[in-house]
Amino acid sequence: MLKDIMKKVTVSAPGKLMLLGEHAVVYGRPCIVTAVGQRIRAMVELTDQPVFELNAPDVAVVHYQKPMSELGKGDLPKGAKFMEVAIKNFGVRRGVKVTTASEFSSQFGFGSSSASTVCVIKALSELTNKKLSDKQIFDLSYKTVLDIQGKGSGFDVAAATFGGTLYFVTGGKVIKPLNIKSLPLIVGYSGIKVDTVTLVNEVLEKAKKYPAVIEHIYDAIGRLVELAKKAILQSDWATLGELMNFNEGYLASLGVEGPKLAGMIYGAREAGAYGAKLSGAGIGDCMLTLTPAKAKKAVEQAIEKAGGQVIDVKANVEGAKVESSD
Ligand code: PMV
Repeated sequence: MLKDIMKKVTVSAPGKLMLLGEHAVVYGRPCIVTAVGQRIRAMVELTDQPVFELNAPDVAVVHYQKPMSELGKGDLPKGAKFMEVAIKNFGVRRGVKVTTASEFSSQFGFGSSSASTVCVIKALSELTNKKLSDKQIFDLSYKTVLDIQGKGSGFDVAAATFGGTLYFVTGGKVIKPLNIKSLPLIVGYSGIKVDTVTLVNEVLEKAKKYPAVIEHIYDAIGRLVELAKKAILQSDWATLGELMNFNEGYLASLGVEGPKLAGMIYGAREAGAYGAKLSGAGIGDCMLTLTPAKAKKAVEQAIEKAGGQVIDVKANVEGAKVESSD
């Protein structure tokens, strides 16, 4: 009997939060990232018309269509380009229809573009029976992100693909899952949107002007990530919190702390957090704190008092997975 050919699959992938090591990870140092339990879902279908069709209402893309032969060409709308280039890079002979839905706002900086890229690549791997390994899904998704952004360590792609909490080195040179049960995180959203590549470039300008100083900062961040890895594996939250505070100091010296995040971070510390820092490129998006249960309420209030919004986030969640198929 012939095996049924799968025509439609829904894949989900998690968002991410950088725990430690941002910016330095762009330049060969390690970081630690955790996958967060707000997921992106992509329903992907192979069709007989050689057309790419996308519906992504969360990013205001409705009924976007393009001939498969034109993928990646011309002006690509923001909400469509990652998926369009992902499909081009995968190399599909038929038409592809994608519908996405997100459990989180693309404003939070949880990595919705990378997560949707991973969803589409994994879905195509299932539909075409290529059965790519997780590392191959990572590699192709990371290539897609680099094709579009030109820059980036790939930590967000790794979190979306593998899930859990990862020790990660630039470009996926090392992707090591850290086996932990939970992380007592509280996440605060600043309400400020920043462009990651712009901030990475600003830090690069500083590094050109003060190469020796910035290299030392990257090395120091790399070393504290190594210590943080040990602390995480031992669930030593007090040490991890202290290391987060150290990390924040270095990020401030790179110029990416910003007054809004600083208010939220220092407020959280004063209210009893083990530690608090920004997460990601800085200036905006989110901050996170590691907090003892008894201080949870006070820390949440401090974040709100500083103008932040506390977001309910589950850390250390599962990576990309098939939700359903037919
Ligand atoms: O802004 P986010 O959440 O995408 O994080 C950027 C983290 C950087 O280290 C600054 C860049 C990168 O690709 O690792």
